[in-house]
Amino acid sequence: MKPGLLLIGGATPRMMDRFRAEFDVHVVKDIPDLPAFLAKQGDSITAVATNGHDGVKPEIMAGCPNLKVVSCYGVGYDAIDTATCAARGIKVSHTPNVLNDDVANTALLLILAAARDLVFNDGYVRAGRWASEGNTPLTRSPEGKTFAILGLGRIGERIAQKLEQFNGKIIYHTRTKKDVAYEYYDDLTRMAQDSDYLIVITPGGAATNKLVNRAVIDALGPQGTLINVARGSVVDEAEMVAALQDGRLGWAGLDVFEKEPHVPEALFALHNVTLLPHVASATHETRQAMGDLVCDNLSQFLKDGKVLTSVPETAHL
Ligand code: NAP
Ligand code: 8YV
Repeated sequence: MKPGLLLIGGATPRMMDRFRAEFDVHVVKDIPDLPAFLAKQGDSITAVATNGHDGVKPEIMAGCPNLKVVSCYGVGYDAIDTATCAARGIKVSHTPNVLNDDVANTALLLILAAARDLVFNDGYVRAGRWASEGNTPLTRSPEGKTFAILGLGRIGERIAQKLEQFNGKIIYHTRTKKDVAYEYYDDLTRMAQDSDYLIVITPGGAATNKLVNRAVIDALGPQGTLINVARGSVVDEAEMVAALQDGRLGWAGLDVFEKEPHVPEALFALHNVTLLPHVASATHETRQAMGDLVCDNLSQFLKDGKVLTSVPETAHL
């Protein structure tokens, strides 16, 4: 008999084929009564495949007493209770590195969209205003500007490398100074004060909750641009919206929000924001690589009880 796999959230046909080759697969969205399923068959579940948004709810953790591995489709795993997993000996894997380039490219896309008023200009042409009203106002060059990166990890470093093409200055803030050529700031507010663009790319979760607060937003100021490709929770969203409305913050490019898929409606009326529906890694190429890694981690677990890309909290298991 194959071991049981519980699939939380979606999976591509390619992933499903691989899951089914090795596991007896149960898809949460197709289970009409989850508590009843868990009571009857929860002890047959060895593995969970999930994603960074859905995580593993406490009732599923509790209802699967023989759970041994959780494979997350995404590098961010703030929705997974890794402390409980570690205490129960459950290995957790995620999908680092394979998405670095596309997430970094999305940060650059948002920087350029904000700098050159892309969405406004596109709407202007589509509305037929060019012929009747003439040219649109001048925009801002990103060349030679100061780019501040909050979180210089795998993705942050890729963003920095790509930003070097803009011939400006790259500065960063992390808790631990890194051995890199970019200037380190131990104080986030002071870094925001010195920057034209603040790019947020830390993990989510309690340690980074609302790191970008009113003081940081005000330090970035009316000529500053906030780019968030990390998690909505890292920015105080209400303060950000108010600052954009008041002109205390110049522009924002946002891929992530506090309560996805719900976005503060006040943002819809603003011309100084570019909004994306959490798509930084959402290319065919990167999503396939992420899906393959989710499956590779589960296959490895079946082979020798280990995973290829563990989260740090369960790497000792
Ligand atoms: P990573 O390699 O672990 O890098 C995280 C960076 O954040 C590190 O430099 C870390 O440095 C810094 N950091 C962590 N906590 C901090 C704090 N409290 N204050 C300041 N800096 C802090 O992670 P990654 O692979 O680059 O991914 C980063 C995150 O991006 C993911 O966790 C995920 O939430 C997000 N993401 C979003 C998308 C999307 O679709 N929009 C896609 C992929 C990833 P220190 O530990 O030294 O502080
Ligand atoms: C995905 C992400 O949108 O990797 C992450 O942390 O946020 C994105 O790549 C998500 O995890 C897929 O569900």
